[in-house]
Amino acid sequence: MTILRSVVVGGGSALPSRCVSNATLAETVDTSDDWIVQRTGIRQRYLCGPGETTSVLGARAARAALDDAGLTPNDIDLVICATSTPDHTFPSTATQIQAALGIHQGFAFDLQAVCAGFVYAVATADKFLTSGSARRALVVGAETFSRILDWEDRTTCVLFGDGAGAIVLEAQDGQGTIADRGVLASSLRSDGRHRDKLYVDGGPGSTGTTGHLRMSGKEVFRFAVGSVTDVILDAFNATGTTADDLDWFVPHQANRRIIEASADKLGIARDKVVLTVDRHGNTSAASIPLALDVARKDGRIKHGDLVMIEAIGGGFTWGAALIRW
Ligand code: UT7
Repeated sequence: MTILRSVVVGGGSALPSRCVSNATLAETVDTSDDWIVQRTGIRQRYLCGPGETTSVLGARAARAALDDAGLTPNDIDLVICATSTPDHTFPSTATQIQAALGIHQGFAFDLQAVCAGFVYAVATADKFLTSGSARRALVVGAETFSRILDWEDRTTCVLFGDGAGAIVLEAQDGQGTIADRGVLASSLRSDGRHRDKLYVDGGPGSTGTTGHLRMSGKEVFRFAVGSVTDVILDAFNATGTTADDLDWFVPHQANRRIIEASADKLGIARDKVVLTVDRHGNTSAASIPLALDVARKDGRIKHGDLVMIEAIGGGFTWGAALIRW
């Protein structure tokens, strides 16, 4: 019996033109390269300039993914953009990407689950594709967090960067086994009791302003290491796989210490962990597709590899997806 699977057929990414090292940041923020590297593993980040909006970066990443897949705009009937930093309150960034690429059929929407947004978007696209509601989806994670940072708050402004990444998912026939290519399992969670640990202190329905990011770093850290492994275990259990079966672990890139502690806890060997937080900083929903693109282009992630993606973000929201590449 065949079943539909959502198979990755292309990927792409986009970064702003300005790269800012820790040392450069330390010229205007009371911080140091040593502190940032020791606490987070971040060495540099890309920050957007005039004209580099979330939809502009998202469209660049989406176009690259389409080219990589050898497809045209006519082939796409679903666009999901995971973002918490849309160009405008509405219309959605996804419709702006749709227009920029010349995609005139199908449907497009934004998905907001902060840093877990890309995992949520992959799981959502998978539902549309495997139910037959869409045939090919562009799944984009795009963010310009530099525009919601309080640059006077050194405890947060050194952590984030801007960027975008995208993949194309295509509905293809599979055999219903874990040897199939495609999304094999996903698990999503949220718990709004933690909503005030990582949030933005403004919005269209409250202050009428954009607001700034606020974070209780230690509490986020503790939760990220202590609790989010449940969704990964869900994905392992649903497929009968274990950490030993993984080829690559591509977690949300917020902090090297969180990533390594999570991998150790799950028994995932350190050499299977894709780390890009050093070069991108925390790019929220863009961090996983950016990391996937790096590991795909440098030859690490290949067809047939088993890849676990995982993220936690404000809300809290968290999730994981197991993908046969
Ligand atoms: O995407 C998901 C959301 N984000 C995360 O996953 C982030 C989770 N949290 C973290 O990564 C860590 O908690 C941080 C990197 C944010 C902070 O690391 P920490 O080890 O928890 O440091 P801390 O907040 O306990 O601060 C330690 C010291 C403090 O000084 P005192 O009070 O010990 O004298 C801070 O004032 O470091 C000081 N500090 C800084 N020093 C230099 C805080 N920020 C900075 C800075 N530069 N940028």
